[in-house]
Amino acid sequence: APIQAPDLGNCNPPDLPNTAPDTNCCPTSGTGIIDFELPPASSAPLRVRPAAHLADAEHLAKYERAVALMKQLPADDPRSFEQQWRVHCAYCDGAYDQVGFPDLEIQVHNCWLFFPWHSFALPFWNWDAPAGMTLPAIYPPFPVDLDYNEIDVIIPTDEQIDQNLNIMYRQMVSGAKKTRLFMGQPYRAGDQPDPGAGSVENVPHGTMHTWTGDPAQPNNEDMGNFYSAARDPIFFAHHGNIDRLWHVWRGLRPSNTDFADADWLDTAFLFYDEEARPVRVRIRDCLDPAAMGYAYQDVGLPWLKAKP
Ligand code: C2O
Repeated sequence: APIQAPDLGNCNPPDLPNTAPDTNCCPTSGTGIIDFELPPASSAPLRVRPAAHLADAEHLAKYERAVALMKQLPADDPRSFEQQWRVHCAYCDGAYDQVGFPDLEIQVHNCWLFFPWHSFALPFWNWDAPAGMTLPAIYPPFPVDLDYNEIDVIIPTDEQIDQNLNIMYRQMVSGAKKTRLFMGQPYRAGDQPDPGAGSVENVPHGTMHTWTGDPAQPNNEDMGNFYSAARDPIFFAHHGNIDRLWHVWRGLRPSNTDFADADWLDTAFLFYDEEARPVRVRIRDCLDPAAMGYAYQDVGLPWLKAKP
């Protein structure tokens, strides 16, 4: 059977690293759950999710204003920035039990729920292409290390770029030929969490979390630990790219390679909408970006020929 949406009223303290401060991840509990519905099919042009380094000034100004408005909301408003990181913490650090299995936690990482849970319609940090491998101008101008292992190895920029492109090829192509290898292992109602992550969830998803975390903090906060990751706004751009790579991977397969398994398709999560109502979203509802009204900016796939 599929993992069911959690009971928001039964949210427990998260499992935190020993050195993390006491943290409340539980959302303001909500009543009146509604089911997610796709927007009506319309002739409106698709909204294009841009690469963050290519977004125009107007888009960036809107984004900044949206984040500022979310930060101004009272912390317990489900639309506040505070609640956005909490929702990640709650689903990632064991705050919910599986409905019907009080001894088993819900964990959306290390399994086939990783890609669908983390899907948001926002700009993406295009770290798989050379032009996106550096952070915005305020940071030092060296490229990311997609294989980062908590040790800074400074190599010439062009070598680092080649290495990154090889890693992308390995994680997206040669090491991702089967749906399970890319998406992660099945995780159904009654299963122990963490059956196994897919290729990209491990690298570069995990390595880029560590790379953008602060090594001076006890648990690499914010980005380097699940509970705190979504406090850093770059989390959403990082996951924007993960989301994009999921759809890129689907596009590289000759035929539809989604799991056909109803236990995956009917897994449900609860999020809040712009009117602060809890909404039940099933994986089967979020598989078609066009039906959700958006597309990705076409930025090319420089790693596609980068076979090591
Ligand atoms: Cu839920 Cu990037 O982690």
